[in-house]
Amino acid sequence: MEDLRNLENVEILDHPLIQHKITRLRDKTTGTAEFRQLVNEIAMLMGYEALRDLETTDIDVETPIETCKSPVLAGKKQAVVPILRAGLGMTDGVLRLLPAAKVGHIGLYRDEETHKPHAYYCKLPDPISLRTIIVTDPMLATGGSAIDAINFIKEKGGVKIKFMCIIAAPEGLKALHEAHPDIQIYVGHLDRQLNEDAYICPGLGDAGDRIFGTK
Ligand code: PRP
Ligand code: URA
Repeated sequence: MEDLRNLENVEILDHPLIQHKITRLRDKTTGTAEFRQLVNEIAMLMGYEALRDLETTDIDVETPIETCKSPVLAGKKQAVVPILRAGLGMTDGVLRLLPAAKVGHIGLYRDEETHKPHAYYCKLPDPISLRTIIVTDPMLATGGSAIDAINFIKEKGGVKIKFMCIIAAPEGLKALHEAHPDIQIYVGHLDRQLNEDAYICPGLGDAGDRIFGTK
């Protein structure tokens, strides 16, 4: 497979703090409470990188010493859009950085036989076209869920879209980039491959089940 690390609009974040926390996530003995906390912490660290191109505008501010021009975030409030369920686990981490952001939801689940995504819920902040949109899902496996979610956001008028996942399979990263070369993709770790059940190897298992303690 081509070197996915060099693709335009794809950033694989190799920060040691992110990698350390991903190792804790992978460990099958890590329990639900720690898992949840780690997912949020990683989302916050990834968000710090992913949001470095947010636009700013200068305002006047009076310091105790003098008045100066200083930047604040510009434009409409951003939209954080988790892909349900597992993407919800990353929402608070991003909202720590952007407390005033709006939150949309896209409900998708993968059919266990076909591995194809099925949509069951969609609600986005209005107007979506003027916002930076941060789509979150810890796992990018075949890429089907992310591709469908972004198709939906684009149909509703979304333009400036960033997708953040904690672990990606090469197959899913390639598929998502090919389907949506215009969006920015941020990956915590690029894993080896998918297995025959379309699970990521070595991965961390089922992210939704581990975040919510189901199964
Ligand atoms: C997981 C994960 C992604 C999807 C990735 O969700 O959170 O949304 O699978 O797989 P894909 O890239 O092959 O589409 P799942 O469908 O298990 O639903 P859940 O979050 O409700 O558990
Ligand atoms: N969804 C998950 O939660 N884990 C995988 O490995 C693949 C899809």
